[in-house]
Amino acid sequence: MLPCQRHLFDIPDDVAYLNCAYMSPLMKPVIEAGITGLARKAHPWELTPDKFFTGSDEFRTTAAQLVDCSADCIAIVPSASYGIATAARNLPVKRGQSILVLAEQFPSNYYSWQRLAEDAGASLKVVAWPDDNDWTAAVLDSLSADVAIAALPHVQWTSGGQLDLVRIGAACRKIGAALMLDLTQSLGALPFSVPDVQPDFAVAASYKWLLGPYSVGLLYVSPKWHGGKPLEENWIQRANASDFSSLILYTEDYDEGARRFDMGERSNFALLPAAVRAMKQLLEWDVAQISETSGALNLRLASAAADLGFSAPVEPLRAPHYLALRKKTAIPKKLPEMLAREKVFVSVRGSSIRVAPNVYNTVEDCDRLIACLRRIV
Ligand SMILES: Cc1ncc(COP(=O)(O)O)c(C=O)c1O
Repeated sequence: MLPCQRHLFDIPDDVAYLNCAYMSPLMKPVIEAGITGLARKAHPWELTPDKFFTGSDEFRTTAAQLVDCSADCIAIVPSASYGIATAARNLPVKRGQSILVLAEQFPSNYYSWQRLAEDAGASLKVVAWPDDNDWTAAVLDSLSADVAIAALPHVQWTSGGQLDLVRIGAACRKIGAALMLDLTQSLGALPFSVPDVQPDFAVAASYKWLLGPYSVGLLYVSPKWHGGKPLEENWIQRANASDFSSLILYTEDYDEGARRFDMGERSNFALLPAAVRAMKQLLEWDVAQISETSGALNLRLASAAADLGFSAPVEPLRAPHYLALRKKTAIPKKLPEMLAREKVFVSVRGSSIRVAPNVYNTVEDCDRLIACLRRIV
């Protein structure tokens, strides 16, 4: 387990921020990296053409280490929805086939598939909420021959339910279904390995468990799809873009690997260094250790909350870093505001209180939440 890392963050002692699933706080060195990057534009004469490529490649190399793939397989995207729309543009589905999603799946990983199914004469197949909280078994049961694409998360965002992606990946390959993953609620807090899962595409927005800034994310693209169609056609995705004087010699050719899927203005001089600095810190801590550290806090919370009548799925059906507490009686809608008055921060999603600690949280933060719940709920 990691010692508490609160000293790297700007979180006052009286704030119990247990809401990383909403938005992570930025570390002080990450803010410095972002400010230094933003300030570079004060001297544009120093922003030579090579700088449009070096920062992006550092992002790719660092992101690739996190998911264990080649840097060539990483594209730079602004959001999870952009990565998912890219996958939807490239993954084939025929009339009569289906696209698999989970019940209550996050909208960014739903609407693109709804649109694709509609356009292709296919249907959406929704995995029903499993009574036993076993999302893996429910997905495996739903992977029938008609499924062309499984569009799934690693962690179901309203329950904290964890999917065994190694087994699901193997099952998809067996029936010839493509696998698109939204890792936004897991990457950085739950170990993930491309070689073990072998997805076709996998995306993660940076602003939650990757502890990075808003409006940037990584998209893994399997070499199988490196010849695919990007969402947009911008100049920097093309071959020889580094030769600024020859950009009007238009070319049919794209840059190598997943670079063709990069968003326009991907060489963001403020966001990329910040995202890279955060990912480097995650690599140094080691994601398995982060998972164990936040998992220990959640076990303490789950046990104390059980005494107040709350229940939650248990590991490994639940991801260690992600706790969704449910109660038979209704949870006050205004609960987050009531807790915020006490400087305790969580979310309510569906019928659950979502508690999402990370390496900056303390046992005292957890105990403060429990004390407030005892009084309010
Ligand atoms: C599971 C999941 N995916 C994606 C996102 C963010 O999506 P986007 O980057 O499209 O805004 C969220 C935000 O809460 C999420 O919970």
